[in-house]
Amino acid sequence: MSFFGELYLRSTLPFLSEDTTAKEVAYLAGSFEDLQVPGPVVDLGCGHGRHAARLNAAGPLAGRVVGLELDALSLQERLPGFPAVRADLRSLPFRTGSLAGAYAWYSTLFVFSDEEHVTVLRDVARCLKPGGRLVLHSVPYDRLASQPEASFSTRLPDGSLLEEESRFDAVRGRDEGHRRLTRPDGRVLSGRYAIRYYPLADLTQLLEFTGFSMRWVHGGLEGEPPSGASTDLIVGAELRHG
Ligand SMILES: C[S@@+](CC[C@H](N)C(=O)[O-])C[C@H]1O[C@@H](n2cnc3c(N)ncnc32)[C@H](O)[C@@H]1O
Repeated sequence: MSFFGELYLRSTLPFLSEDTTAKEVAYLAGSFEDLQVPGPVVDLGCGHGRHAARLNAAGPLAGRVVGLELDALSLQERLPGFPAVRADLRSLPFRTGSLAGAYAWYSTLFVFSDEEHVTVLRDVARCLKPGGRLVLHSVPYDRLASQPEASFSTRLPDGSLLEEESRFDAVRGRDEGHRRLTRPDGRVLSGRYAIRYYPLADLTQLLEFTGFSMRWVHGGLEGEPPSGASTDLIVGAELRHG
């Protein structure tokens, strides 16, 4: 995990405002509010737990959230108030039919190969109880396609220099980038990432193929329908019966 871990944590946390996290938490709470299935709900790739800690403290998922994360530092520095397991998304450590739900924010499930995305989603389906729910957050394919190249350089509040370059390949649907963080003491952390962005029709097909039925598609945290101006793509799916 050369991209995730210290580089991701130190370079991303300064951009995650309280306000943004509070809105995302409210969205997630609303997504699971009417879920009739009892049992735990897993935050897949929970990071330092900005969603899991709050969702586990109050609301419809109070006392039911478990974080799953591979990076030891994220777990070590995580917020208090929720249990977590150190595991790989590609080998879920949960019993078949044991979970009421799962969610993954920030395209977390889509950092692998297309074949692995099928395997991961099938494994999530395996872990869910009948009627179990999956909520996935990503960014619309069209948004990446309309602005395929990005680069920036900025100073973080602690004095670190953050530099990043990325390029979206619209044919492969993959955004590949390189991030470099020069810490105030001169230490350099750097890593490459690749994230798959599926057009909505392909994502729907992928979910159907792996055992889910799409329940909703939103273009933002207010639950608005997707549009050309959407900044988010959030889908809710349910484990298909039979
Ligand atoms: C984009 S971040 C999102 C973190 C958190 N969900 C949030 O919204 O702040 C993706 C997270 O998934 C974790 N991750 C990446 N690959 C993983 C893997 N193979 N197994 C488990 N966790 C992984 C990373 O360490 C990171 O914390």
